[in-house]
Amino acid sequence: MSTRQKILVFDSGLGGLTVFREIRKVRPDADYLYLGDDALFPYGALAPEALVARVEAVIGDALADFPADAIVIACNTASTLVLPPLRARHAMPIVGTVPAIKPAAAATRSRMISVLATPGTVSRDYTAELIRDFAQGVAVTLVGSRALAGLAERALRGEAVPDEALAGEIAPCFVEAEGRRTDVVVLACTHYPLLLDRLGALAPWPVQWIDPAPAIARRVVQVLGESSLDNPGSARMVMTAGNPPEALLDAA
Ligand code: DGL
Repeated sequence: MSTRQKILVFDSGLGGLTVFREIRKVRPDADYLYLGDDALFPYGALAPEALVARVEAVIGDALADFPADAIVIACNTASTLVLPPLRARHAMPIVGTVPAIKPAAAATRSRMISVLATPGTVSRDYTAELIRDFAQGVAVTLVGSRALAGLAERALRGEAVPDEALAGEIAPCFVEAEGRRTDVVVLACTHYPLLLDRLGALAPWPVQWIDPAPAIARRVVQVLGESSLDNPGSARMVMTAGNPPEALLDAA
């Protein structure tokens, strides 16, 4: 008889729901704990040392109640720092979310891509290494948005978020030079796909937006295997500031 596997999905807030929904599509049989550290949201502006210590502590506490078979760090801002220390501390597979620069470099025809992320993610050595290793010959514009993750949370909670605010955040992604222009934008923060329809409508010209969530879900299947049970598992949500909007798990 197969046992039900447990998957812990972690983010600073609600953005990881964009990853959770893709994982649950391919592994509906697993039991999920969605953990959002909204008491410290946004992570984008946190100092690296504070971020690493915080994620280690919050994940450690969660594992005491939910002995996960795999952890998904559904947050680029955290993954670009915490994967090595977490892997050193915990034996189960830990799947991260890092800027999808490699697929973007493969997809661009104009050789101009933009990476839309938090200020933390655009400043990481990890991001610079991805560009060096996978985007040679491609002009990469790094756009660190202070506000977009918060705007995505507000929109998800049903608050009004004006088009002008979103348009201003994405504007620096659209670059024209020497008759070429940006044709691929990497959504390198898991909050941003929550706004994908609106971002597409507000873009000054059409681009390919890359949301890495389906690739992360495939990676989870690689490390844990395919669904092994016919009936769906459970999903629970814990937010460190309290009041988890559990209904969003089913809406995701
Ligand atoms: N969702 C997070 C990410 O993927 C970060 C949002 C934030 O806390 O600033 O980077």
